[in-house]
Amino acid sequence: MPLFFSSAGIFINTNQVKAQSNSITIPGIIWMETDDLMERFLSKLGEGFDYTPNPDRLATRSTDLTTAEDVSRKWLTRHPNPRDSVEKQIIMVMDDMQDNQARGMGNVLPEDGRLMRMLAESLEAKHVVELGTANGYSAMWFCLALRATGGKLITHEIDPERIAMARENFQRAGVEDLVTLIEGDAHENIMKLKGPIDIVLLDAEKEGFCDYLEKLLPLVRKGGLIIAHDSSGEAHMMDDYFKTITENGDLETVFVDASRWGMCITRKMR
Ligand SMILES: C[S@@+](CC[C@H](N)C(=O)[O-])C[C@H]1O[C@@H](n2cnc3c(N)ncnc32)[C@H](O)[C@@H]1O
Repeated sequence: MPLFFSSAGIFINTNQVKAQSNSITIPGIIWMETDDLMERFLSKLGEGFDYTPNPDRLATRSTDLTTAEDVSRKWLTRHPNPRDSVEKQIIMVMDDMQDNQARGMGNVLPEDGRLMRMLAESLEAKHVVELGTANGYSAMWFCLALRATGGKLITHEIDPERIAMARENFQRAGVEDLVTLIEGDAHENIMKLKGPIDIVLLDAEKEGFCDYLEKLLPLVRKGGLIIAHDSSGEAHMMDDYFKTITENGDLETVFVDASRWGMCITRKMR
């Protein structure tokens, strides 16, 4: 029986794939003759399957398979160079979160974070709203931007354990004054928010995206952005959301794969 071992600790035989403690069964036969195919397959497995392609292998790939994430990992540091001692502390905590807390957390990847930070700084965002804090990793990226713009982040999380982790991370990074963490069901809590909002990050449950959009869009300023995370990696769960934004004549959208998960970036035009 064909058996396939990889450095990621994953094995494949003719009808079963296992990764960490999760397992799925695939009917039929899977042939994976190269590491490229292996990586592409693993990248589709979704949250909970933390899988990092080996950047050293980039040179051996055919160019049509190279992704922005591959190139980023070859040329960029994982986190940006700190601009001052305060950023140094934030980035130290981000490093630790990536090394020790990321598994199963559903954090954005550093490539997505870089883009979010760049967008927030470019828009000179003052008011950012996030749905789905988890342990606060994406929030840290926004904090890097908001220190520069003088803005604030309001982030929402329902899971008590993750709330506790996020609070601890915000404290040790020294960003508590930049972040308000709202505990509980974001569908209810966002009803109390006030505009104008410069950027919304949708990164809680995908089924809720249309409701979040409906409630928050009136508060987003003209020229503001709604960023929906995982728009490539979990596109199959987002049809209703994609339909809603593309049918709205006031919105303009681009799909960007800074990482394999992708971001759907929508601008409120009027
Ligand atoms: C993908 S994770 C967020 C990752 C985070 N943005 C990051 O990149 O570090 C999604 C989070 O949304 C939270 N969530 C799901 N439904 C929610 C709801 N109705 N209200 C608030 N948070 C919710 C989950 O508990 C989970 O921690």
